[in-house]
Amino acid sequence: MDAAEYGAVRHSKIHPRFLNTNSTSHKWAFGAIAELLDNAADASASQAIMEMRVFEVPGGSDGSGTEPLEALIIMDNGTGVDREQMHRLLSFGHSEKAALLLAQQNGERDVAADHKPIGRYGNGFKSSSMRLGRDALVLSKTKEFCTVGLLSQSFLESVDADDVLVPIVSWRHGKDERGEDTYELLPDIKDGEAEQSLAIISKHSIFSSAEEIMGQFMPIGDTGTLIIMTRLRGFDTGALELDYRSTPEDIVLHDPTAEDGVFQKERHNQRAGSKIKLDYSLRAYLTYLYKVPRMQIYLQGAKVKTRRMTGMLSSRHIETYKPNFVAEPATIQIGFSESQHEYGMMIYHRNRLIKPYVRVGIQNDPDERGMGVLGIVEADFLQPTHNKQDFDDSRTHYRTLLKKCAETLKSFWWDNVERGEAEAAEEEAAGALFSGQRRTRKRKAPMMDRWIQCDFPECLKWRKVPANYDLEPYKDGTTPWYCQYHPDPAWANHDVPEEQELVEP
Ligand SMILES: Nc1ncnc2c1ncn2[C@@H]1O[C@H](COP(=O)(O)OP(=O)(O)O)[C@@H](O)[C@H]1O
Ligand SMILES: [Mg+2]
Ligand SMILES: [Zn+2]
Repeated sequence: MDAAEYGAVRHSKIHPRFLNTNSTSHKWAFGAIAELLDNAADASASQAIMEMRVFEVPGGSDGSGTEPLEALIIMDNGTGVDREQMHRLLSFGHSEKAALLLAQQNGERDVAADHKPIGRYGNGFKSSSMRLGRDALVLSKTKEFCTVGLLSQSFLESVDADDVLVPIVSWRHGKDERGEDTYELLPDIKDGEAEQSLAIISKHSIFSSAEEIMGQFMPIGDTGTLIIMTRLRGFDTGALELDYRSTPEDIVLHDPTAEDGVFQKERHNQRAGSKIKLDYSLRAYLTYLYKVPRMQIYLQGAKVKTRRMTGMLSSRHIETYKPNFVAEPATIQIGFSESQHEYGMMIYHRNRLIKPYVRVGIQNDPDERGMGVLGIVEADFLQPTHNKQDFDDSRTHYRTLLKKCAETLKSFWWDNVERGEAEAAEEEAAGALFSGQRRTRKRKAPMMDRWIQCDFPECLKWRKVPANYDLEPYKDGTTPWYCQYHPDPAWANHDVPEEQELVEP
């Protein structure tokens, strides 16, 4: 087959090689996974399920048998996308206007109402799915439609395409008298689109017929999106980059070039030998990904324990920071973490973790100062870079924020550690008795917020519980907790709004 024969199928005016080039902004595989979860969260999903699975696909030495194909699957119960949105999801915006125009000519859509300037649509899905694997099949369900779309480097290469063809098929779904699912193919926008698209998807995805594809919409539920990525990235040894076999209920990253094989991101000032778990454990990363986690995330069959980071800080001190060049102030919450070895600034942008464990000020000195102190920073005035793993610092706003964090840390350390030591030393010098008693004051009594999230999908609110409330039974994430369990009747109802996090100290 030649690409020219698929003239009716939509395409992006971009060379297929760009798909790979574009994905290189995601150096770190987990950064790409996070983008896909962001999309689910943006689509108001209350749940995302992620797992790696092996499919048997036609293959074998003579092509008549089957061979295993590993897939990374992400399914959410968000709003889903219809045909036009699927097109935007899979393409780079260049042919979007043309498609909308075509739709308007067919009287299907009001372009003016729908039109948004080019550039408004991001690149997250394209860059991240193509970073993880060479092929991505997207199945999405809205209240009215079921739509399937394919972004496949394997397909594009096999037909020697010089545009990015994005086959899309859409059905209106419903129920017949017997309650069985019905699918009615939407009319072509361009003659032959559905037929050609189906032919491509049946040949180049893991499903080989329209019936098989339609069968995949069932598990999605009322609305939602299912992404199946295949031809996953691997090493020359044949091993996959994402390892789901060595650690149960987790996906971990290896670095075959590292001495102990454990993947670590390069970090300024990171001491040799100190490992940061969220660099290589997806489960650990997902625990911190959102400052206030909303969506329930299941990884390899087990729920990711939601944790509110700010609830992990003891002796918490809160500061707001509003430089005159910004409209929205940043908040810095600083306190002792549970471990001496966990320290630095966790910097979030719109609730999403961008930079974990950034060491500032005294934490960069080769002594113990600042160790065990964690900062949770929400800095919406900053601009994340393309891969959402760093901040753009062309206007030095990021550096200015770090300087502020360094000052906050320094005074926190003085108030909670050094002042006590200094006073004790002074008393000792003055010959005071019982100076040792003073020294015990050096860390104030822990003041921690204890949060737990309601597991009712329509609620998912966070509740603060008193110090004597036993959270142990819910810690492993398998026993659900609901608002109704709250010991204070004032909070024991899904309808009660969530408590504000920042209560001025
Ligand atoms: N899981 C999803 N559920 C619903 N819509 C999605 C999903 N993923 C992507 N989309 C749609 O596709 C569009 C493009 O996604 P993406 O490439 O990540 O860019 P951005 O998120 O910056 O808009 C989104 O704006 C959204 O409309
Ligand atoms: Mg996105
Ligand atoms: Zn609730």
